[in-house]
Amino acid sequence: MTKIHSAAVLGAGTMGSQIAAHLANAGIPVLLLDLDRQTAAAGLNKAKKLTPSPFFTHQVETLISIGGFETDLARLRQVDWIIEAIVEQIDVKRELLAKVEIHRSPTAIVSSNTSGLSLASLAENRSNEFRRHWLGTHFFNPPRYLHLLELIPTVDTKTSVIDRISYFASHALGKGIVIAKDTPSFIANRIGIYDVTRILNFFVKGEFTIEEIDAMTGSIMGRTKSATFRTLDIVGIDVLAHVALDLTTRLNTEDERLKFKLPSIVEQMVQRGCIGQKSGQGFYKKEIDRKVRKILTLDPSTMLYREHKIPNLAPIDATKSINDFRERLRVLFLGNDLVGKFIRATLGQTLLYTANIANEISHSINDIDRAMRWGFGWHLGPFELWDTIGVESILESCDIKATPKLIKDLKRTNGIRKFRTGILPPAKLDLQILRRRKEEQPLVKRNDGANLVDLGDGVLAVEFHSKMNTIGQDAIEMLSLGIAEAELNFEALVIGNDDLNFCAGANLMMILTEAQNRHWKEIDLMVKAFQSVVASLRHTTVPVIVSPSGLTLGGGCELSLHGDRLQAASETYMGLVEVKVGLIPAGGGTKELLIRNTSRIKASSKEPFPYIKNAFELISFAKVSTSALHAKELGFLNDVDGITMNRDRLMSDAKLTALELAKKGYQPPQPLHNIKVEGDGVRSALELGIHLAFRADYISEHDVLIGKKIAKILAGGALPHSTHVSDQYLLDLEREAFLSLCGETKTQERIAYTLKTGKTLRN
Ligand code: NAI
Repeated sequence: MTKIHSAAVLGAGTMGSQIAAHLANAGIPVLLLDLDRQTAAAGLNKAKKLTPSPFFTHQVETLISIGGFETDLARLRQVDWIIEAIVEQIDVKRELLAKVEIHRSPTAIVSSNTSGLSLASLAENRSNEFRRHWLGTHFFNPPRYLHLLELIPTVDTKTSVIDRISYFASHALGKGIVIAKDTPSFIANRIGIYDVTRILNFFVKGEFTIEEIDAMTGSIMGRTKSATFRTLDIVGIDVLAHVALDLTTRLNTEDERLKFKLPSIVEQMVQRGCIGQKSGQGFYKKEIDRKVRKILTLDPSTMLYREHKIPNLAPIDATKSINDFRERLRVLFLGNDLVGKFIRATLGQTLLYTANIANEISHSINDIDRAMRWGFGWHLGPFELWDTIGVESILESCDIKATPKLIKDLKRTNGIRKFRTGILPPAKLDLQILRRRKEEQPLVKRNDGANLVDLGDGVLAVEFHSKMNTIGQDAIEMLSLGIAEAELNFEALVIGNDDLNFCAGANLMMILTEAQNRHWKEIDLMVKAFQSVVASLRHTTVPVIVSPSGLTLGGGCELSLHGDRLQAASETYMGLVEVKVGLIPAGGGTKELLIRNTSRIKASSKEPFPYIKNAFELISFAKVSTSALHAKELGFLNDVDGITMNRDRLMSDAKLTALELAKKGYQPPQPLHNIKVEGDGVRSALELGIHLAFRADYISEHDVLIGKKIAKILAGGALPHSTHVSDQYLLDLEREAFLSLCGETKTQERIAYTLKTGKTLRN
């Protein structure tokens, strides 16, 4: 398949500049054009300042060059893919596309990021050749972070063009691809906005507060925690109004159009500038009152902001003991109470509507489910929800004009109608392979902390599954068993999962309990066990691939540092954050950063200090990467380590790397006995830095204590001059420092605070 090597984005606004950024993240040079050079520069600069950043690293920014439509359209001839992302006005877009046609290369694909205009009608006056290379590519905002990409081919689009963009977007951009039909607002927005409209229309009846609706429509309904109103504040009330208005004007029948009519409060909010986070106020407003931050809520009857009210919903409290979210949602949905009534009138109607329009907007119900999961953060798509709540239950409990044809056509098995016999399958065979293997065959081993999963072709996987995948005794034990099992019966070992996060670190609760009970011996044994399993990863006879993704902190980072090769998800937030809880990395992390940084000292250089200082700063500032590429810059990843853009493909890529290393005839490295350490010279230089930071009030007394412990390990202990030591010697220094810090009250306070609040205590 012809690859995409270069791209152009037309329009440097909110979407264009961020799409350009994400193409650059994938290593693609991008030409970003707008009305003129200055406008393009301003758009790009705005994107550079966004948080969270659309760019993986600052270095990536250099892949974007800018220009103007008047002066630079001829440069389009050089690019493989041209993405139009200018204002949502059909005539303006058409006019620009006419010019693009003159300058594009004959093989270049041209697409539009329109939110909902008809792709066929945008390309109406273009040549056949143009139309064969033309389609919709609808990114969701923010394009780096939202997984969904809707592709909208027209009847003219060549299959090879759809395949080429699908492949590139899935592999290089990491997107979840859904093919939508060319209907107003495509799949996700059509259903999502229908749903929001139902919720807003219920809201204005005044039966529930904003807080109560958010309590019903967040994680309880299997949606993002920001639920309805907080999400709308993030997206922008003006954006909502715009997309809904679009639907009310462009849908075919009056009946359809009316379904998208928002209550008048939305228009009032837009007029008053209450358009959400970007204007500082929407359904919620953040305020600082006497240095205390608080969140106020809009009162729709006065349009003024009032104090936050804790939601008071008895049916929700009554179902708190049901752990399985599917079962809980079912109970709430069918409840003979106000909450049930609300959920049936909103979610229930959305499910019916989706069944009614499924064939009109998509080629498959799988695409609809995936679009809602990936674009709107629903934990289950509409048809998964039909099956979860039960087709008959929904039909019996909801207000229905006519049973959707899709439902009437469903076959009954044992009297039950369901959309799927199993669960929603992954879109491609190389996605989520670990999850699928677990469904297809029994686990090799399991305990409360981790699983061993046979990934096939001689590759074994260790998957953590505790809360936040923290590492406790169970996980350590399963890692050891995994190594032994892999040596006996497999060719390679992969450590990773199909989850969002790899591992949030050690099980702090366990450490705190042992420390409070003064069980020093137990802590010592625990740390020893972790150090030993981490060392075995490095020295086992099979290659070990570690696959970090999302949060990869503390012990999770240390594990990664000891893999033979890393295959990291592009969204990897990796760091040694132990100092935040008053500890130091003692699972080989401090040792490893020392070795990694000093190995970069050039033969010609006589000055090792800057390299050791770099290791010191990574640990003492608890630096965390903002992407896998950034982790490379920080030195947590080596140059040879791989990065997977599509999170769902991570385990598949890790498996391929594992087999590649195994096939090459893998030989484990030997334990090190000749690590050069610098002794007191370096230690006192680091301590001087610590002292100055304390004097300048940057760090606390407890930070000084922790800093000195890190400095001592990085200097190789109390040594008068430079010498060579073994890695075991450094591990012993790590353990000694860790243990002594566990005995400190301030460390115990930090751990307790983090466990309770998830935040860091600066004491
Ligand atoms: P924007 O308003 O931030 O940017 C639009 C860009 O078009 C600006 O840089 C502007 O200079 C340029 N422009 C204005 N008038 C023009 C003209 N006459 N000729 C050529 N260029 C002109 O808009 P945004 O939000 O980036 O939207 C761009 C496209 O992406 C639209 O089609 C929109 O529907 C779509 N979209 C927007 C999403 C969002 O969340 N903002 C999400 C998905 C799609």
